[in-house]
Parts: sequence; structure tokens; C-alpha cells
Amino acid sequence: MAKEFLPGMRKDYGKDALTVESVHADPMMQFEKWFKDAMKSDGDEANVLTLSTLGEDQIPEGRIVLLKFYAEDGFTFYTNYSSHKAQQLEKHPYASMTFHWRSQERQVRIKGSISKVDPIISDEYFKERPLGSRIGAWASPQSQEIPNREFLEERVEEIKQKFEGQIEIPRPEFWGGYLLTPVQIEFWQGRPSRLHDRIIYDLVDGKWVIKRFAP
Ligand SMILES: Cc1cc2nc3c(=O)[nH]c(=O)nc-3n(C[C@H](O)[C@H](O)[C@H](O)COP(=O)(O)O)c2cc1C
Repeated sequence: MAKEFLPGMRKDYGKDALTVESVHADPMMQFEKWFKDAMKSDGDEANVLTLSTLGEDQIPEGRIVLLKFYAEDGFTFYTNYSSHKAQQLEKHPYASMTFHWRSQERQVRIKGSISKVDPIISDEYFKERPLGSRIGAWASPQSQEIPNREFLEERVEEIKQKFEGQIEIPRPEFWGGYLLTPVQIEFWQGRPSRLHDRIIYDLVDGKWVIKRFAP
């Protein structure tokens, strides 16, 4: 394959600016402000984030997941508790989340510790999911090798039969939420000539300390 050089792919940013003085003292309030802006511009995709975890081989791994809740205590996503990421989080319960809101020319990076959410909360959220997604959670042995697509489709049929006639499909024990409790949150706003604004909140002795970093 020929080496592709992509010199033309560059975009200058200049939609907005960010200063230590203009941001909220509480990063969760700042997140809420930006998330609401992102919902307006990115709609149902505003909650798409990259979750990075540390592999057993010490190589970081990223994958997309969806943010399902945010509140003062942190950020929640849902997944399979036997998945690859879950095994990594079991061994090393720390992760980072990266949001890219392209139309806002913004990035948010969050890092912190990870814990499983209360099973009752996972139950409540599971009930809210569409039927197909609830069946899918039961059917998919996430991150395990499977022989072919038919295997998955047969699993779906088996699960449908298993719960036939039941009003409610219970949450599988191997599926639920994780809460990321932040210790650092960075807000990045694209600016002209790559001189972007980066405002970082660090949790020091229970208080958020705000700094500006060079881009
Ligand atoms: C748009 C999008 C949304 C996704 N949302 C989730 C999610 O909320 N939870 C999840 O477990 N996987 C989600 N995935 C799939 C993951 O990226 C990943 O393939 C899967 O979780 C297995 O990752 P692992 O093997 O590292 O555990 C999503 C993928 C995409 C592209």
C-alpha cells in the first residue's frame, strides 16, 4: 500500500473561547453546560465517548460506549460484566472517558476510579431499555469468540423462548453499570492556529483546583 500523506486535512477552529475566569467553579456544572450544548448540536450522539482502560499487557485500550447518567457523583455507562473491558476494570479499577463534540470544536477528558453501580439502579435502567436491547444483553457473550453470526441469532431465539409469556425480562447478573468518579476533568476548546484553550480541574484534598494548560 502506498503511503498516504494527508496534508490537506486540516481545519482551523474558532467558534468559542474558554478562560479560567469564565468556567464554572464546579466541573460537573461546566460539564452539564457543555453537554447541553452538545445535545443541541449532536442530538442523540452527544453521549458517545471513548472509554480507555489498561490492558493486562499494560497496553491502553479504547472503545466507544454511551454515557447513560451524569450527576455530582460521576459518570455512568452500561456494559457486560464479563466483557474484556470489565475484566480489565476488575484488575485495575481506573479509566478515562473522552468526548469529542465536533460541531462545538470541543473535547472533554475525564479520569477517575471505577465502581459498579448499585444493582437496583442497574435493574431500573435495564427496564427502560427497548425489548431488543434487553434480549441482546442476554444473548451476547460480549468479547468472547463466537463461530459465526448464526450463533448469535440462535442465542436470540433461545432467549426469546426462555422469556416467552413473561411480562418483564430481568436484568442478567452479568450486565450492569459502572460509575466513574472523577479526579480530573479537562475542557478543551479549539482556537485558531492550534492555540487551543485547555482548562483542567484537579481534585486536591476534596477541592477542585483549576489550571490552564498549554495546547
Ligand atoms: C456508537 C457505539 C456505542 C456503543 N455503546 C456501547 C455501550 O454503551 N456499552 C458497551 O458495552 N459497548 C458499547 N459499544 C461497543 C463497544 O465499543 C465494544 O465493542 C464492546 O463494549 C466490547 O468492548 P471490550 O471487548 O473492550 O469489552 C458501542 C459501540 C459504538 C460504536
